[in-house]
Amino acid sequence: MHDSLVITRIEGRVGIIQLNRPSHLNALNDALMDALGAALIEMEKNDDIGCIVLTGSSKAFAAGADISAMQKLSYHDVTKDDLISRNWETMLQVRKPVIAAVAGYALGGGCEVAMMCDFIIAADNAKFGQPEIKIGTIPGAGGSQRLPRAVSKSKAMDMVLTGRIMDAVEAERAGLVSRIVPLDKLNDEALEAATVIAGMSLPIAIAAKEAVNRAYETTLREGVLFERRTFHATFATQDRKEGMTAFVEKREPHFTHQ
Ligand code: CAA
Repeated sequence: MHDSLVITRIEGRVGIIQLNRPSHLNALNDALMDALGAALIEMEKNDDIGCIVLTGSSKAFAAGADISAMQKLSYHDVTKDDLISRNWETMLQVRKPVIAAVAGYALGGGCEVAMMCDFIIAADNAKFGQPEIKIGTIPGAGGSQRLPRAVSKSKAMDMVLTGRIMDAVEAERAGLVSRIVPLDKLNDEALEAATVIAGMSLPIAIAAKEAVNRAYETTLREGVLFERRTFHATFATQDRKEGMTAFVEKREPHFTHQ
């Protein structure tokens, strides 16, 4: 199943979404973001999918929001239509784990979409940046908030104020990406990681994702309490029982996602 803007496929229990607007280095216009949102929601609803991989091309994950589409808009235009909110926040509705597999440019909105994913696996040619200042604006899809949380205030300020590009090695050193792999291994590595995750219990993976995300959104005390309650709640699942029983019986667990 695919259309011109996103190409989707399913491998085992992994859903793969590829941004596909090569003529514009996957610049994120409304049509592409709508297509991405629809693909995410479809995969979120599909019980046969346990993890999602979002990727682009070997040249660009996404080179940002579509500058040509924004160029003529006025303040009134962007506030009345809530530019960037309408179809950019769909990602945040996805409870299943989402991995960003990034090759080439992940700039502006492209870097922001990658940061909305749960973790980033980067090809060795990946380039990250929030260069909005160079076109007279600032990040609009969470870059000024998620980047400092990922890489510290100092490096985020450097990136946002100078608009410079960070290569994959710097991005891994700074904590923005979890792993770097050679470009030709990116898809395999992302699929392998996603397959591992999709082999876990889905409700437990969702609980784990919620708990880690809580670290971004609340105080340590509240986050630890949330984690404790969620940990206790896993004891109400079949899969927690199966996981521990399988360990004790020295066999592989068979999770039923319940
Ligand atoms: N919007 C619209 N079109 C874009 C684009 C973007 N963000 N990025 C690239 N394109 C288009 C180019 O206009 C060009 O189209 P034409 O062939 O029709 O001229 C095509 O994609 C290929 O791009 P380049 O010829 O520029 O390719 P390059 O290899 O020389 O340079 C690049 C690559 C450094 C990524 C350069 O394209 C670039 O700087 N792009 C803009 C990056 C940017 O500023 N992103 C932030 C956007 S604002 C934003 O994202 C706001 C937000 O927070 C939500």
